[in-house]
Amino acid sequence: MHMYNYNEDFITVSDRLSFSFDEMDELYSCIEEILNHDKWKEMTTCKHHLDSKAIHLLEVCCVSWRKAKKIKNCDASSVAIGALLHDFFFYDWQKEKVNLETLSIKRKIYTPKMHGFLHPLIAFDNAHKFFPHLINKKIEDIIIKHMWPLTINPPRCREAWIVCMADKRCSLNVLKSPKELPKYLGIPIKNNS
Ligand SMILES: [Fe+2]
Ligand SMILES: [Fe+2]
Repeated sequence: MHMYNYNEDFITVSDRLSFSFDEMDELYSCIEEILNHDKWKEMTTCKHHLDSKAIHLLEVCCVSWRKAKKIKNCDASSVAIGALLHDFFFYDWQKEKVNLETLSIKRKIYTPKMHGFLHPLIAFDNAHKFFPHLINKKIEDIIIKHMWPLTINPPRCREAWIVCMADKRCSLNVLKSPKELPKYLGIPIKNNS
């Protein structure tokens, strides 16, 4: 018997990765609040590569959390939360421009104005806005650095390295065709079909 009434996308992804019931219960206890939040629903209707963004975020979360559990002294719960929120933005980057002036967290930002560089900052701002009590320094590093090497500054903790690598693995698995690679980097590609 499960301890939780699981979210449907969580079941899909943990099935794909053959999670045990114990793994599902343990991971779900770290991320339940986010999955039950109203803002999470926007992730389920937003497309990301071939899946919804909710599926992509859950996939990176499950893959990263499982990896973190195997490493001694690794903060698996921060890994799960950071991974789940690493792309937590609500605009369609191929259609809308974002304005960094709207960020609630003010910081000096010298970065190219392209989606691949900007969206980690927007995702962190949203994570901080909606889940301030869940955020810590590791989770900040996970979200802000997940697009390394674009960020130039590399991740500062092993938790952020795990998510950075898992995001690439999951995104490239989904993209399959090298022609789609620019999309991962946030460069729009013309669809002539
Ligand atoms: Fe991203
Ligand atoms: Fe991602």
